[in-house]
Amino acid sequence: MPAQNAAPNFFNRNLAMKKTFALSLFIFAMGLLAAQPAEKNLPPDFPQFDFRPSARPDRILLACAEDPATAQTVIWRTDTSIREAYAEIARADPSPEFDEYERKFRAETKVLLNDFAVAAYHQATFTGLQPGALYAYRVGSGPYWSEWIQFRTAEAAFQPFSFIYMGDAQNDLYSHWARAIRAAYCRAPGAGFILHAGDLINHSQNDYEWGEWFEAGSFIHRSIPSIATPGNHEYIKDTLGNKIGLSPFWNAQFQFPDNGPPGLEGQCYYIDYQGARIISLNSNQDYEVQAEWLEKVLAGNPNRWAFVTFHHPVRSTSKDRQHQTVLSLWKPILDKHRVDLVLQGHDHAYGRGQNLETSPDSSDASSGTVYVVSVSGAKMYPLAEQPWMSRAAENTQLYQVVEVFMDHLIYRSYTTGGEVYDAFILLKRPGRPNEILPLPTDIQEERRFINTLVGPDER
Ligand SMILES: [Fe+2]
Repeated sequence: MPAQNAAPNFFNRNLAMKKTFALSLFIFAMGLLAAQPAEKNLPPDFPQFDFRPSARPDRILLACAEDPATAQTVIWRTDTSIREAYAEIARADPSPEFDEYERKFRAETKVLLNDFAVAAYHQATFTGLQPGALYAYRVGSGPYWSEWIQFRTAEAAFQPFSFIYMGDAQNDLYSHWARAIRAAYCRAPGAGFILHAGDLINHSQNDYEWGEWFEAGSFIHRSIPSIATPGNHEYIKDTLGNKIGLSPFWNAQFQFPDNGPPGLEGQCYYIDYQGARIISLNSNQDYEVQAEWLEKVLAGNPNRWAFVTFHHPVRSTSKDRQHQTVLSLWKPILDKHRVDLVLQGHDHAYGRGQNLETSPDSSDASSGTVYVVSVSGAKMYPLAEQPWMSRAAENTQLYQVVEVFMDHLIYRSYTTGGEVYDAFILLKRPGRPNEILPLPTDIQEERRFINTLVGPDER
């Protein structure tokens, strides 16, 4: 009978609705739990910032492409609701209607599950650009777009330029590194690129630390192209501290040229920028393969200048931290080809010296190569003074600006207060090693800097 059947049907339907509701509630709760930061991964001083992705593009970064005169790579992040993303670019003329002439590039999207959340990383490379031209770009999709951001492509041939070099950022990125990267930008807003010598963060899989790195650099990361080399802290480690592989964050957040040895794409690579070859080596692995590759890349360098970066220094600035393989395998190649600057990190102190060995039986006493170790973040190690150092410091956050000209370059290392702490001219001499000419500094050499503005009781 219809009346008798109605109750069970209603009951069944009601039960089904309750089950569906309960299931939805369970999924929602699980979603909420999944969206929460895993407490075990939080740094001890976690200030409860929310770096979770949304549909709006964030963590926008320009990465130097293989030919920065005609191409430019951009990477950004959203939540996973964005599966189709675009980058638009236009010549940046003074008219606000410049954006009527944009070109659109479809991004390649990767989904990255990290210890905080799931995020979508989008990468696009603008191609067919004019050398030495000012462009504006934006990234996004649907109603979610970034602002229009300006950058300038490199010239097709040699032209004077400058770049910024930052040693390890690594710790206290938001609270302490921000002042270093921002001071560097204010000093050289027209820099062609920013070179990061590894250990950009402390824990390779910690999304929160990457959030701080992007927050500290803010629009600088999206306005000046980056060149970065991986440090040991960009590696995932097992419970014994052994490196087991480069963090997936590296290839999700950066995209550098794939002209290096197979398996080291985006880690070991070179970029020819306006008359200079900039080479990144990954000093964490595969030393012999990279040595062979480096020999070829330096021998075939058509540019006037050669700058090499890797994380573990040829000569350490600290006690018991010498990397013997880098010293024995890579240094002879760097000296043989008279590389102009070798820009390194890892030791959390400052040291700069030319390759003028004190040992009388040294066969490479006159290559003229300048080796630098620098640190831009807050973590500091004691300095172990060594004969190779012409200038050194400890307990000092520094950034460097290098101005490159046809026959010489000017190198300056600055404190975060803007004082010149180290400076020299490197003079090119045809057929002979570079000559180094000291420049005046604002402050005398002081090995260990302490806060002298307040008394001990006030620190
Ligand atoms: Fe390191």
